[in-house]
Amino acid sequence: MALAFSEESEAKFNELVSRYPNTRAALLPALFLAQEEFGWISVEVMDYLAERLELPPSQVLTTATFYTMYNKQPVGKCHVQVCTTLSCAFRGGYELLERFEDRLGIKRGESTPDGNWTLTEVECLASCGSAPMFQLTDSKGNMEYFEDLDSEEKFETVVKELESRLPNLPDPRDMH
Ligand code: FES
Repeated sequence: MALAFSEESEAKFNELVSRYPNTRAALLPALFLAQEEFGWISVEVMDYLAERLELPPSQVLTTATFYTMYNKQPVGKCHVQVCTTLSCAFRGGYELLERFEDRLGIKRGESTPDGNWTLTEVECLASCGSAPMFQLTDSKGNMEYFEDLDSEEKFETVVKELESRLPNLPDPRDMH
């Protein structure tokens, strides 16, 4: 089946295209919108955007692959992005990353086979004053910061909170 935005995303797409002087300038927000709609940016999604924005597919491909915030493969319902840049590294960023690895049974850069979790190590997320921290992106397109996670207790509280959300999140592997 050919890809198409939902009615809601179609309205957002038309609105954002109208805000930019040309479709090239609208590419980054359009990629975000597509990621929210389809879960991840496959070649099929890139081709769809190229067609909709009347841009060369190669331009969409190079843009999507340049920026790490666009997922080029399916991610879990909860995509955990742990910062390990300087401030976070000093205050336990690597310990936080290792806690996730132990808890989820995966290494950084991997996803759990049940499609629930993806764990990624990332660069500074501009929340250095509340290090160590991670950003969560869920499969409904929500983004959230979890901060000051400098103890096992705080880590466990956050993980339990996220586990309770899993049943209400769509599996990105089924989204297109
Ligand atoms: S160093 Fe982690 S948010 Fe800046």
